[in-house]
Amino acid sequence: MNAWILEKQSNIEERPLKLTNIPSPVPGKKEIRVKVLVCGICRTDIHIAEGDLPLKKSPLILGHEIVGVVEKTGEGVKSFRPGDPVGISWLYNTCGKCEYCIKGKENYCPDFQCTGWDADGGFAEYITIREDFALSLQGINMEPEDLAPLMCPGIAGYCALKLTEAERGNKLGLFGFGPTAYYVLKAANYLGIEVYVSTRSSSHREEAKRNGAVWVGNVAEENMPCPLNSAILFPPAGALVEPVLAYVEKGGILVLAPVSMSLIEIENYSENLWGRDVRTLYNVNKAEAEEFLKIAGQTGMRMGRQVFNWEELQDAMIQVKKGEIKEPNAVIKIL
Ligand SMILES: NC(=O)c1ccc[n+]([C@@H]2O[C@H](COP(=O)([O-])OP(=O)(O)OC[C@H]3O[C@@H](n4cnc5c(N)ncnc54)[C@H](OP(=O)(O)O)[C@@H]3O)[C@@H](O)[C@H]2O)c1
Ligand SMILES: [Zn+2]
Ligand SMILES: [Zn+2]
Repeated sequence: MNAWILEKQSNIEERPLKLTNIPSPVPGKKEIRVKVLVCGICRTDIHIAEGDLPLKKSPLILGHEIVGVVEKTGEGVKSFRPGDPVGISWLYNTCGKCEYCIKGKENYCPDFQCTGWDADGGFAEYITIREDFALSLQGINMEPEDLAPLMCPGIAGYCALKLTEAERGNKLGLFGFGPTAYYVLKAANYLGIEVYVSTRSSSHREEAKRNGAVWVGNVAEENMPCPLNSAILFPPAGALVEPVLAYVEKGGILVLAPVSMSLIEIENYSENLWGRDVRTLYNVNKAEAEEFLKIAGQTGMRMGRQVFNWEELQDAMIQVKKGEIKEPNAVIKIL
């Protein structure tokens, strides 16, 4: 099969990925082989390519926003047949035996394996995965290009939303309005949660309003109109934690979405932290991914995406790094 492989990490401008032809992976017991149709580019792919995150295998195929169809099933596969539409997210495999896995909290499994990091990902014609971790896309009437971003920002956003414990009628604040926040807004609307969005960008403000936010503004310039039951902070800016907490009422929950964060300092513990919970989003789990995809199928979540051809992968990654793509998401068409 044709695949883009990473052997040695370097700046993405140096084009560290090589286009090669390698044997297609063979589906083992309870595994399926998926013909990849499209795969989205995530910032994490760039972090791995450049060495901000260590290389866990070499050569490695990046990519974890995968949409495709089952092409072949291994021995004992029960839930999929050739031709079935499937998605693959960051969740590639877990041990299945530890306390976390048994409780359905496999996002904390010490053996959590990530697609496109611990195992080969979607910038290739085929990928194999255990049937338990492939996500059925049956009945979701959306183009593969629109489905791809659901696999990372979509699912991760929904897991962050679950951590807030927000319920119908609650007030939820979203601070920063990138792709992840967009999907949270759509899912929260569907669940009857009122969403208050703070963003610096006027185009993000318009998009949030168009998609059902109750209030849109920028807390650097004006206050939230009311206290919040819970909130999600998206940018990795630790200095924002205390001001955001100040909007969350007692008994409320603040979820920090980023995978890295600058220094967090709480100056006024009694006023701004005491009585609130702070949680972090740590990987994703399957039950929530499936719940989210069901909601996505019913609501039709479509956000801007720029589609690139197979041979343009590295140009697209460079553009994503530089913030030069015209849309919030970049998606690669696989051969
Ligand atoms: N834990 C996990 O497993 C997991 C998985 C996926 C994603 N995530 C995290 O989710 C977060 C959001 O992801 P995303 O794809 O939506 O990324 P993103 O577009 O970078 O979202 C962050 C948003 O925050 C705002 N922002 C950035 N820097 C800021 C600053 N210095 N001050 C104030 N606002 C700032 C921007 O929004 P405005 O321009 O609208 O203000 C930006 O769009 C990321 O931090 C990512 O690490 C976590
Ligand atoms: Zn990602
Ligand atoms: Zn486990």
